[in-house]
Amino acid sequence: MSDMADRARAVVDAHRGDRGALLPVLHGLQAEFGYLDQALLPLVAKELNLSRADVHGVISFYTDFRTEPPGRTVVKLCRAEACQSVGAERLLAHAEQVLGSKAGQTTADGSVTLEQVFCLGNCALGPAAQVDGRLHGRLDEAALDSIIAEAEA
Ligand code: FES
Repeated sequence: MSDMADRARAVVDAHRGDRGALLPVLHGLQAEFGYLDQALLPLVAKELNLSRADVHGVISFYTDFRTEPPGRTVVKLCRAEACQSVGAERLLAHAEQVLGSKAGQTTADGSVTLEQVFCLGNCALGPAAQVDGRLHGRLDEAALDSIIAEAEA
């Protein structure tokens, strides 16, 4: 924990002077650790002179913040209207079946976290997904299977 706490303090220090430092600190911690470990939240609250409830409230409000370690590959499938109109729901059902886990979950072997998002700014090329930060468009089941397999290789 002390190494983790030291790394967390370094992230806090990098943003301490920022206006509204909590959001950049939380994004920084998620970038550093891959998720927001509950054990670090008291440290964040104390360092930024906030209540734990304030910190918890922000984390639970923004769906981008993750409180569990992600899988080795993170697949974010868009479910907003434009992607829905070209098959996003079918694609999500396929992904859930193939992975054996639901949106918001990580596969039992820790290989893939499946998440739903609402618009990736790629509406003209839906259905769209982001896999480990890389944007993909005009997906169908075969293309999604191939992207996931490649990311896992
Ligand atoms: Fe899916 Fe915009 S609606 S990228």
